[in-house]
Amino acid sequence: MHDYDLQPADYDDAHGGASRAEAAAAALRILLGDASTVVDVGGGTGIVSHLLRGPHRNVFLADVSPGMLSQAYRRMSGRTVRASGTALPFRGESMEAVVCVWFLHLLPTEAVRTVIAEAVRVLRVGGRFITTVDKAAAHDDGSDIAELTADLRSPPTDASPDIYDYTRAAGMTPLDSIAFTGHGQGLAPWPYADELSRRRDPTATGIARRLRELPFPNTPRPDPVYRLRSYRKASQ
Ligand SMILES: C[S@@+](CC[C@H](N)C(=O)[O-])C[C@H]1O[C@@H](n2cnc3c(N)ncnc32)[C@H](O)[C@@H]1O
Repeated sequence: MHDYDLQPADYDDAHGGASRAEAAAAALRILLGDASTVVDVGGGTGIVSHLLRGPHRNVFLADVSPGMLSQAYRRMSGRTVRASGTALPFRGESMEAVVCVWFLHLLPTEAVRTVIAEAVRVLRVGGRFITTVDKAAAHDDGSDIAELTADLRSPPTDASPDIYDYTRAAGMTPLDSIAFTGHGQGLAPWPYADELSRRRDPTATGIARRLRELPFPNTPRPDPVYRLRSYRKASQ
C-alpha cells in the first residue's frame, strides 16, 4: 500500500484537489439523507469529510496515518481519531452513517469484510454504509493508457458484486448508487509513467516504459467517473 505518511501535505493536490472533493461530497450528501452522526473511515486529510459537516450533522474522521490526520485535525475541528477501520473506537449503534471513500480498494479481502462488520456494529438499525466501489474500473475508459495499465487493476478488493455479498452477509440491504467525476484526474502518459516508476515494482516499471512511448504524452485522458453505493443496516 502507498505510504500515506510520506507526503500528506501534497496528497490533496495530487488527487484532484477541491474539485474532486466537492464532487464526492455532493454525491455523498445525497446518499447521507438526514444522517446526523457520521464517521468517515479512511478519511485521510479530511478534504471530503469536512464538506459533509453541517448544523445538523456531526462528522468524525478515522484514519491510521498520523501524517494524514495532522492535515485533517484542523479541518475537522479535532473530530479525528487514529484508528483502523477494522477496529473503530465507537460504541455499538452510535452512528447513523459510515462512509468510506477510496478506501476499501486498498485493503485485502479479509480486512474489507472486517471493516464492513465494524460498520454494521457501530451503525444504528436503519443506518447507512456508503462506499466507493470498483475504483480501478473508473480508469478503464477505453483509452490507450487504460489498455496499457490493465494489469495494474486486478484483482480489485472493492468489486461491487463482492461488496454486495459482504454487506448482505453482514446484515445490510442495498439502498442507492450515485457517480461522481474525478475532475482534473484524467491521466497523462508521462506524469503517470513518473508516478509508476516511483513504485519500484517491476510490473509498474515495465508499464511506465511503454507509457513513455504513447502519443500526446502530456495530454490527460478523460476524467474518471467513480461510483458510490449505499446500504442500509436491516433490523435483525
Ligand atoms: C486513498 S486515501 C483516501 C482518503 C480520503 N477518503 C479521500 O477520499 O480523500 C486512503 C486513506 O485510507 C487510510 N487507511 C489505510 N488503511 C487504513 C485502515 N486500515 N484504517 C483506516 N484508515 C486506513 C490511509 O491512511 C489514507 O488516508
